[in-house]
Amino acid sequence: MALTENAFQRCINPDCRTTRAISETLTACPACGDLLDIEYDWNRLPVPKKLSEIEARWSRRNEPLEFSGVWRFRQLLAFAPEDKIVTIGEGQTILQNSRAVAAYCGLNPDRLFLQYEGLNPSGSFKDNGMTAAVTHAHIVGARHAACASTGNTSASLAIFASTTQMFKVIVFVGSGKIAYGKLSQALDFGSKTLQLLGDFDDAMQQVQEVCRREKIYLCNSVNPFRLEGQKTIIFRVLESLRWEVPDWIAVPGGNLGNSSAFGKALAELKHLGLIDRIPRLAVINAAGSNTLHQLYNDRKVRWSRGRPDAESIKGFYDEMDRTRRRATTLATAIQINRPVSLKKALRALDITDGVVRQVTDQEILDAKAQVGAGGFGCEPASAASVAGVRLLRQEGVIAPSDRVVCILTGHQLKDPTTTVAYHANDPDQFEKVLGSQGVKSAPHANSPIVVDNDLNKIIDLIRKIE
Ligand code: F0G
Repeated sequence: MALTENAFQRCINPDCRTTRAISETLTACPACGDLLDIEYDWNRLPVPKKLSEIEARWSRRNEPLEFSGVWRFRQLLAFAPEDKIVTIGEGQTILQNSRAVAAYCGLNPDRLFLQYEGLNPSGSFKDNGMTAAVTHAHIVGARHAACASTGNTSASLAIFASTTQMFKVIVFVGSGKIAYGKLSQALDFGSKTLQLLGDFDDAMQQVQEVCRREKIYLCNSVNPFRLEGQKTIIFRVLESLRWEVPDWIAVPGGNLGNSSAFGKALAELKHLGLIDRIPRLAVINAAGSNTLHQLYNDRKVRWSRGRPDAESIKGFYDEMDRTRRRATTLATAIQINRPVSLKKALRALDITDGVVRQVTDQEILDAKAQVGAGGFGCEPASAASVAGVRLLRQEGVIAPSDRVVCILTGHQLKDPTTTVAYHANDPDQFEKVLGSQGVKSAPHANSPIVVDNDLNKIIDLIRKIE
């Protein structure tokens, strides 16, 4: 029984529901243009009876598919024949109980967990989705792939291209908006890198058109296979919690692929009887890039059984165009004003009784310094999840005893410029890098201490350190 027969692509629009085979390359419904899901005929698939059954696979970790933190769960993303799966060992990530960050957020000890997706091969959560997208690209025989990116998607696609040598890759990035760690990855992995004279939203529009016209395989999260891979972040969180469902999962919101994937993962687990309740999702926007916050909280746009208020959404985007408003935040990974997975994210919020909040760059950088001082560190966008949890705690939406997981989406070393500007105690650099985004102070700075090249002075200094 070929797996691909029990999986198919389906339009999310309840008035359309067009169905297409897995073997087609689509990034939108061919009938109505809406987003597509991957759906499964679960009755005909060998679904595990309990999630804990999957753990046993770890004992066979010398087999690449069992080693992968994505494909170990392949019964729950069963669209690919095993001989087509492309893996580079993604998904070896860690859930850490952080008492320091719990205290910062106002949570009781042992109630806050940090999920470090920065430990993936390219240093961000994107590898979870990219392994699924390139697997599909392999199924359909694609030779050329592309993406637009604020930096991490491009790093991820580039590492898959360099390590597998299966695809020629073109990545589109906005000019001057990409953190150096990420740009350096695309270049070093040998991908053709187009620095578009525009921002991510421009790059996203262009790459979709380019891929359509030139028949290039598109690896952004409008590609529904990407989101199948990203479901496994949730599976691994649950695995690390010994399959006990937390109360909250907090995630930064950019293009909204992760939020969408999480909602789908949780709905499917519940449907299959593998979990008994669904945690609440908190999607956190940066204040300078807050489309979801504005639509959800100010304009009250909801999933509405698959028919979100199209007029409201269009009105919002028209106004954005009229006023030429551009996304602007130091959390450059989520500097996005037109999230492509908006509708699916609304669905995820509906499934999870979720909430949306926005946090300032000051709050993001302060939270990031706490993650660094109390854990493995993260890049700015990732810390939005922690800043969001702190805010929700202050509002009383999250209780001190709630069990909360913050998804840390990217590695600390992705964006050293911002980190050093925060900590370095150099007013010029602070102003140049952080000032323009309204960051006024660095209350959690850990500044380097300058000392003469003199042993006695060094020892004197060290003795004064508490
Ligand atoms: N965190 C990091 C580190 C990211 O790189 C991104 C997205 C997000 C959060 C937001 O996730 O889009 O699923 O809501 N980065 C994309 C990129 C857009 O091009 O690398 P999302």
